[in-house]
Amino acid sequence: MTTTPELRISILTGFPRMFEGPLDEGMLRVAQKMGKVDIRIVHLREFTEDVHRTIDDSPYGGGPGMVLKIEPVVRALESLPPPLDGRREVVLLTPQGERLDQKGVRTLLEAKDVVLVFGRYKGIDDRIREFVTREISIGDYILSGGEPAALIVADALTRLVPGVLGDMESAEGDSFERTILDSGYYTRPEDFRGLKVPEVYLSGHHKRIEEARRRDALLRTLERRPDLLETATLSDEEVRWLRAEGWESRP
Ligand code: ADE
Repeated sequence: MTTTPELRISILTGFPRMFEGPLDEGMLRVAQKMGKVDIRIVHLREFTEDVHRTIDDSPYGGGPGMVLKIEPVVRALESLPPPLDGRREVVLLTPQGERLDQKGVRTLLEAKDVVLVFGRYKGIDDRIREFVTREISIGDYILSGGEPAALIVADALTRLVPGVLGDMESAEGDSFERTILDSGYYTRPEDFRGLKVPEVYLSGHHKRIEEARRRDALLRTLERRPDLLETATLSDEEVRWLRAEGWESRP
């Protein structure tokens, strides 16, 4: 099926093979096949001019590790076709960036054309900051290179493109889309080594099941991420119920 993609993600990397498996399976594969998302792997070595196709070098001023050179990255950026919808976000993935959350993913998706740039080891020549529109971290830990971070961002963006998830799963109930954590889910068998699926989920009683899921979600959030309850939309009854379960915050 040929349609205009609703999202284009360009990933600039010196290690294109790191993307071969992950982009060829599951939701990312289906989204690309449907033509909803155009994911381009741009090989930085193709934008070098020396015989060794060098993309990194030792840092000025000394010290261990290698720094990704700026020329191949900027040349690769300049080779990209015009943005899909007029607006492009060029994202530098770095542990020094703004921490990504679901709201940030939605904001990024507004651009429809997202370029992901990142370094390895010691990062990229810092002058790259002049060429990016934002800097994002996927969490407070350090990866050896930005490739896994790029895959995470590509996945989080792609699954929000309308029509991608379909029946595979729905994004609506997800933890964080509703600002509280999602409930647990179960599938066959009903009894696994004595671990039983909660009775209510076997009842076929949709209203009761819905209530049980909501309670489970609220309780999980209370136990694991009570901070999320502060800004969640809760009914008066839910507030009372949570208080009875030990929730102490919010006047
Ligand atoms: N590159 C290395 N660590 C990273 C992180 N935590 N987030 C984004 N890019 C990174």
